[in-house]
Amino acid sequence: MKQLVGRERELRDLLGYVERRIDKIVLLQGPELSGKTALLRELRAVMASKYGRTIPVYHLDLTCFRMTDVLEWIQGTDNFLMEDSKDLTILEVIEEILASEHQLQPVFIIDQAERIPEIFPQPRALIEVLAKIARERRGVVILASLDDSLREDWHDQVLPFHLGYFSEKAARAFLRKRRAAEDRRPWWQRWWSRRDLVSDEEWREIYPVCGGCPRLLGFCVSPYPNLSAIVGSVVGGVHTGLEGRDGEWEGDKYRRVAELLVENEGSLEWSVVLDKVFGKDVSEGSSQLRAMAARNMINVEYLPESKTKVVMAGSPAYLYAMRLVLEGRDEPDV
Ligand SMILES: Nc1ncnc2c1ncn2[C@@H]1O[C@H](COP(=O)(O)OP(=O)(O)O)[C@@H](O)[C@H]1O
Ligand SMILES: [Mg+2]
Repeated sequence: MKQLVGRERELRDLLGYVERRIDKIVLLQGPELSGKTALLRELRAVMASKYGRTIPVYHLDLTCFRMTDVLEWIQGTDNFLMEDSKDLTILEVIEEILASEHQLQPVFIIDQAERIPEIFPQPRALIEVLAKIARERRGVVILASLDDSLREDWHDQVLPFHLGYFSEKAARAFLRKRRAAEDRRPWWQRWWSRRDLVSDEEWREIYPVCGGCPRLLGFCVSPYPNLSAIVGSVVGGVHTGLEGRDGEWEGDKYRRVAELLVENEGSLEWSVVLDKVFGKDVSEGSSQLRAMAARNMINVEYLPESKTKVVMAGSPAYLYAMRLVLEGRDEPDV
């Protein structure tokens, strides 16, 4: 498994919540590929080495979960839905775990939690139970989600914890560390060359495309990253957006959103977008923006520090692709 790079503060905070048995659901929220799953995996590793089995962790990843309330799906050790819980609902499984637990309070982690409403027939009941478990300190509950719909519905029971992309400085440090870790040359050669692992010139090309997204930066660990391929992979998405395909949003509205994002370096307040693009119709605007977000063209994020909700490009590469397409070009100049 790849080593987690950076995120020391986030890891410390999450561990702190577990140790203090925080009495709210912790909602780890951040855009696709910002590293939520990687952070949770590291949290589990740290907990395992610090506490061994004394704090049991039940980890459920909804990524490929297709079942309804009946839990017959078990894969790997990561998921706490065991063979013998086949005919139980998730609520029953949770109750069983709590009833049988004589050690410290368990930790429940549900990854890809934005899928809860789509998967579970009684999402409200599930969230209420999880919130109650946290409130009564019978267990710690951590949900990871790429949107903030859970916070909106349960905001007084949820502690939002935002995991954004890296800042530019942290992004460059991230790439340096990843490259250093992959550098297989003997130490004296590395020491001798002393070349910056990420030159200024290279960074000027990489950053506009990858921004602080760890996944995209991961493609640049090799010395000659194919940046055009990264941009090319999302250009089609921008065209789809402009065509307003499926009627879930209007092409000209998407164009306006893309223009605003390009003008504002990839991020602006949700209320501003609603106002400038959808004018009078807030409910129509919300639903069109949600549809765009569902296709990863944009992200809607809640930033707990500033208590604002923002609209962002689906990823830094998306922003780059939006700029290209709006300028009438399809070929990146990287
Ligand atoms: N801090 C990090 N250090 C190393 N690799 C990371 C880090 N954050 C993310 N990654 C890598 O980036 C990719 C996307 O991260 P992931 O955790 O799957 O994102 P998310 O769950 O937010 O969609 C994965 O391949 C992951 O290993
Ligand atoms: Mg994930």
